[in-house]
Amino acid sequence: MKKKISVFINKRIKKFNKKINVPPDKSLSIRALLLASQCIGVSKIKNLLVSDDVLNCIKALRKLGVKIINKKNIYYIYGNGLNSFKSKNKLTKIFLGNSGTSARLILGLMSTHPGKFYLYGDESLNKRDMSRIIEPLEKIGCYFYPKGKKTLPITIEGTSMPLAQKHFEEKGSAQIKSALLLASLSTPGITTIHEKKISRNHSEIFLKNINSDIKIKKLNNGNLIKLRGQKNLYAFDYKVSSDPSSAAFLIALALLTPNSKLLIKEILCNPTRIGFIKILKEKMNARITLKNLKKKYGETVGDVFVQSSSLKPINCPKKLVPSVIDEFPILFIISSIIKGVSNFAGINELRHKESDRIKNIELGLNKMGIKTISTADSLKIFGNPNINRKKSIEIYPKNDHRIAMSWAIFALINGIKIKINNFETVDTSFPGFVALIKKIGGKIETN
Ligand code: S3P
Repeated sequence: MKKKISVFINKRIKKFNKKINVPPDKSLSIRALLLASQCIGVSKIKNLLVSDDVLNCIKALRKLGVKIINKKNIYYIYGNGLNSFKSKNKLTKIFLGNSGTSARLILGLMSTHPGKFYLYGDESLNKRDMSRIIEPLEKIGCYFYPKGKKTLPITIEGTSMPLAQKHFEEKGSAQIKSALLLASLSTPGITTIHEKKISRNHSEIFLKNINSDIKIKKLNNGNLIKLRGQKNLYAFDYKVSSDPSSAAFLIALALLTPNSKLLIKEILCNPTRIGFIKILKEKMNARITLKNLKKKYGETVGDVFVQSSSLKPINCPKKLVPSVIDEFPILFIISSIIKGVSNFAGINELRHKESDRIKNIELGLNKMGIKTISTADSLKIFGNPNINRKKSIEIYPKNDHRIAMSWAIFALINGIKIKINNFETVDTSFPGFVALIKKIGGKIETN
């Protein structure tokens, strides 16, 4: 059991002018590990995110017979080729902690592997919907037990004769798309995925880079992705760029702290990931500049320069939702601090994240006297720059790292007194968050 940590903040952060780095990207780290496990030879990954989600992914792969060693912060993954997991027991038990991405993507790999695997996670992951992955994977020919169960713990029995299918991805979920792509690697013939809502495309970019037989065609309504399976893949070298989802918290802090400037180095700037920056710049009047943009391993990477700004409220376009998906908690916090009413629609997916993120943020905002109105898939926030700062508030993030960090930023901007429980959950994606806040001058105490 991980030690429980609470943090306390009761002062506004003072103006700052800093150059910082944020941790490596979680989505890329998990993909690099999983793909390396399917390659022939030893892959070398630099700047891997060393967070709980990624460490759980590594543990899972080791349990599946993949040798992984870490020498001077370079990870060496000894891939044995497609479909090469080894299971000693009749039923291999795999724990994925809080990591929805690892769980869903690894199920994709297991679906074509003849063997039985029992997957389980922490309290939060065990509540998350798996039917979105069970249904398309069953079409390929694997089985899930107990029948009809939609959450972890669950047992998967892979098939030795996977069938290439045409799938439709309508939720805008990169996890569903990626799980299907991973399954297609060992499936004979061409698997087709019609993604109707465009989600992060790191798996596609990665697969292209390591010469898998993948083709992507733009359609009027999304993308058509085709992958011909059973082509051998070979070991690669990779360096992970920094996580825009982690940068988002620091961007918010710089924008709303008067007279401040922040330069965040080498951020992954893939357009499917930086809807947050796009919305802030183009619709909310934020002073953010992307500098030194270049391509690294097929991904766009650049520095993000932020200056404090006078922000406007927003009507968030539905089309941008998948590209902001992990940044909504902090975008809600921004909207609650600035003057005016902000509207978010088409955001039902937020109810299925590490926690119900609409409910969780609303609860805290309402405690602070900030009015909100929500439906199953929308949220209206009545921003209030004049909250009662004498009020103190206690937050329970329910094992949701992004909720925990969002409230820390709220308190640092507003200078209210806050206790955030369960703050150890931040290690899921952003180890070193507290140290970084201190580095830029924030007063944050831990117990
Ligand atoms: C992720 C996809 C998103 C995102 C998650 C990481 C990924 O989930 O919320 O944090 O790495 O593919 P969905 O695919 O469920 O939207």
